[in-house]
Amino acid sequence: MSEDWFGKVEGDAWRLIVRGARDVMSPFHQPAFATRRADGGGAVRTIVLRGADPRERTLWFYTDAETGKVADIAADPASELVFYDALRQLQVRARGRAEVLRLVDGAPLAVQAFSAVSERAWSDYGGEDARTRFAVVRVSVAALDVLQLRRGGQRRRAGVTYGPDGVPVVVRLPA
Ligand SMILES: Cc1cc2nc3c(=O)[nH]c(=O)nc-3n(C[C@H](O)[C@H](O)[C@H](O)COP(=O)(O)O)c2cc1C
Repeated sequence: MSEDWFGKVEGDAWRLIVRGARDVMSPFHQPAFATRRADGGGAVRTIVLRGADPRERTLWFYTDAETGKVADIAADPASELVFYDALRQLQVRARGRAEVLRLVDGAPLAVQAFSAVSERAWSDYGGEDARTRFAVVRVSVAALDVLQLRRGGQRRRAGVTYGPDGVPVVVRLPA
């Protein structure tokens, strides 16, 4: 690994996230999604990544609006996802604000997404009530934290934030 790793880390992380949304075999397909609970604790759960847009710096997944994460987000949109690729020995954490886009509100992303969900899969979103409970959680990513492990102990860790113009700012972090 070299200085070049820091130069490419932001683009590489987003490429893996996009692949994770498209490819069910990708290790980035099922990240963990964390929220803050109203009682002051945290909550983390596995989700299936459904889409990502590196230009907008957004990523999204589907949910049942009755689940705890939706109540968490309503109270506090701060959220984080963690992805891990064991073969690459690469961890990516994506932090940002989550929003809930509900089908019943006619949110275009939710309408489009639900039209592609087979009736068999409605059970994941409230069964017969799926039309009233289906929602998309979209996270606007404000920061990435990328940790590259290596056999023998050598590590690299980069923190990525974005300037007002959307240009990534990459800093070395203690690994
Ligand atoms: C492999 C796997 C994939 C999952 N995918 C989703 C998903 O895409 N969306 C979702 O809301 N829950 C998904 N779940 C269920 C969540 O992990 C969680 O149990 C559920 O959403 C309730 O969590 P909450 O009440 O904390 O929001 C998945 C669970 C597993 C094990």
